[in-house]
Amino acid sequence: MKPNVTSHAFSVAPMMELTDRHCRYFHRQLSARALLYSEMVTCNAIIHGDRDHLLAFNAAESPVVLQLGGCHPQDLAECASIGQQYGYAEINLNVGCPSDRVKSGRFGACLMAEPELVARCVEAMNKAVDIPVTVKCRVGIDRNDAYEPFYDFISTVHQGGCDLFVVHARKAWLDGLSPSENREIPPLRYDFVHRIKQELPHISFVINGGIDSHDLALDLLSHSLPALDGVMLGRAAYRNPFILSEVEQKYYGVEEADTDRTTAITRLIPYIDNELKHGVRLGHITRHILGLFQGQPGGRLWRRHLSENAWRSGAGSDVVLEALEIVHNAASRSAA
Ligand SMILES: Cc1cc2nc3c(=O)[nH]c(=O)nc-3n(C[C@H](O)[C@H](O)[C@H](O)COP(=O)(O)O)c2cc1C
Repeated sequence: MKPNVTSHAFSVAPMMELTDRHCRYFHRQLSARALLYSEMVTCNAIIHGDRDHLLAFNAAESPVVLQLGGCHPQDLAECASIGQQYGYAEINLNVGCPSDRVKSGRFGACLMAEPELVARCVEAMNKAVDIPVTVKCRVGIDRNDAYEPFYDFISTVHQGGCDLFVVHARKAWLDGLSPSENREIPPLRYDFVHRIKQELPHISFVINGGIDSHDLALDLLSHSLPALDGVMLGRAAYRNPFILSEVEQKYYGVEEADTDRTTAITRLIPYIDNELKHGVRLGHITRHILGLFQGQPGGRLWRRHLSENAWRSGAGSDVVLEALEIVHNAASRSAA
């Protein structure tokens, strides 16, 4: 059996166009232990595209899971092996994405209808790498409420060698909803995840979908016996990244002084300077930090200063330091 090198107690969800390497580097400044995911990268892109551009990341982001999109065992095995060489801690197969592009490629959520194929994909990847291979799925893909197809999917794919499933706890309706509607409209079925953990306690399950606070996350974690193995937050963590600063204490029982916002930004400045030297535009990094002061005095001014100035030509890290000063001034005024 492969060593479980990563803890899944708390993770930030893979999100296309959002969880790129800059986002992950920033999130890592707020939590040392949260497990971070790449955006989904398709096998075609890895096999035919610019690998360094798609896969290279800063070692300081580790541990990072590479999420693959594909449905051909051989291709997935090759890409998993490439991902391992790039230093990813784990390979995750996307069986949850409902977009048309993904459907026409016969991967993503539509693979929930083909558990044997997914099992073969997992088996092939497992043979190709030493790191864990996991699957992110939904609880189903049709409009009927049945639990059994979900159970069959999990048990079949487990036989292919997958010991951990991240479950976005709603069905994907593949008959007309857009991807964003598919993240909102099908009802959340946390009960499916708790039930399957009870029935298959030897398999690890991470629960995902609609979790917007640590209180809800911790409640869901402990709701079944045995308890679930982790929670994954997507949009809530992206919109309000400061919630990551509580991860060590809440999920790992580590009493570290909470990272404050200013420290996180101060740590980011050398990273920004270095990236800009390599041709990255400031806005590509600052778009991920806009929500850092959400709900705080000056939070809107922070967001506005960055949005208005980070895309200007030649914009440097001084724009971020100015935004920080604006927030500090607003905080002093509100405390006075
Ligand atoms: C903009 C965006 C892009 C996403 N891209 C991916 C993806 O590449 N792979 C994937 O498995 N899920 C993707 N998801 C789904 C999330 O990983 C997660 O399952 C979903 O947002 C539900 O979790 P949440 O309610 O905590 O956001 C994406 C979600 C969003 C909002």
